[in-house]
Amino acid sequence: MARVFVTRKLPGTAVDRLKAEHEVEVWPERLPPRPGDLRARMPDIEGLLSILTDKIHDELLDAAPNLRAISNYAVGVDNIDVEAVTKRGIPIGNTPDVLTEATADLAVALMLAIARRLSEGEALVHRGDWLTWEPTLLLGRDLHDSTVGIVGMGRIGRAVQRRVEGFGARVVYTDVSGGVLLEQLLEQSDFVTIHSPLTEQTHGLINDETLAMMKPTAYLVNTARGPIVDTKALIRALNAGEIAGAALDVTDPEPLTGDHVLLSAPNLLVVPHIGSATHATREAMADMAVDNLLAALRGERMRHCVNPQVYDA
Ligand code: GLV
Ligand code: GLV
Repeated sequence: MARVFVTRKLPGTAVDRLKAEHEVEVWPERLPPRPGDLRARMPDIEGLLSILTDKIHDELLDAAPNLRAISNYAVGVDNIDVEAVTKRGIPIGNTPDVLTEATADLAVALMLAIARRLSEGEALVHRGDWLTWEPTLLLGRDLHDSTVGIVGMGRIGRAVQRRVEGFGARVVYTDVSGGVLLEQLLEQSDFVTIHSPLTEQTHGLINDETLAMMKPTAYLVNTARGPIVDTKALIRALNAGEIAGAALDVTDPEPLTGDHVLLSAPNLLVVPHIGSATHATREAMADMAVDNLLAALRGERMRHCVNPQVYDA
């Protein structure tokens, strides 16, 4: 029996399997544990099941001499100082694959929603402003026959490619391992959709300079990580009409407060980081995160581990 801290309630029954083998504390609140709450648990725990809002840094790890495994309930691990954890020989689990299809679905939903102006249309109906069928009411742009630029051709990027090709769109992509130059992609695309992890290389990738390379009729879609897009630059580009619009599932900062200046920019659609938010996907992520943690606490290899080099050391 190991002591385990799970930083948020998870959907489904996966955590019951963890409780059957270990002494588990689940943070009961809707908001994340505050840094002090997390820190207070560090001296005792051997396993941590973290969420992408928990910042796991060097100093926190110093307070956790017994920690043997971190399992992140996300595919992205940019909330964790991976180097600091690896240095301590601790494996980090993540949840790839299970959220690929759901996230790709949302990316396409955002493309269609922003280009066909769904939230504007819905607001108009709710306001009682639907006066008649009008030839020029809420004209948008097509996904079919468009060029979709995929930034980051990993699992999710490929799943988006399959979908939009099914819609009749043409795909260009850029990736660390191939594709076209980002500049070419930006110049050609009617939709630019981001599917790369947040790293030093991708931080601020979409900025004043790169937004200026997009067509004025093109849309930006981000379901990856907020800081890949420079928020100030996006606000400027939207207000200047430099691009046709942006649909975001992730933002910087995150969460966005209701009075954030980004929200007053035109042609913007924002949803609250729900790329993987389906019942089936979030339950599958919980199963995977729990399986990773159970394996590590038994002294076995995590099935999905972002720093497998700890096993060679
Ligand atoms: C969600 O954003 C994830 O990385 O799983
Ligand atoms: C539109 O509703 C049409 O019938 O063309």
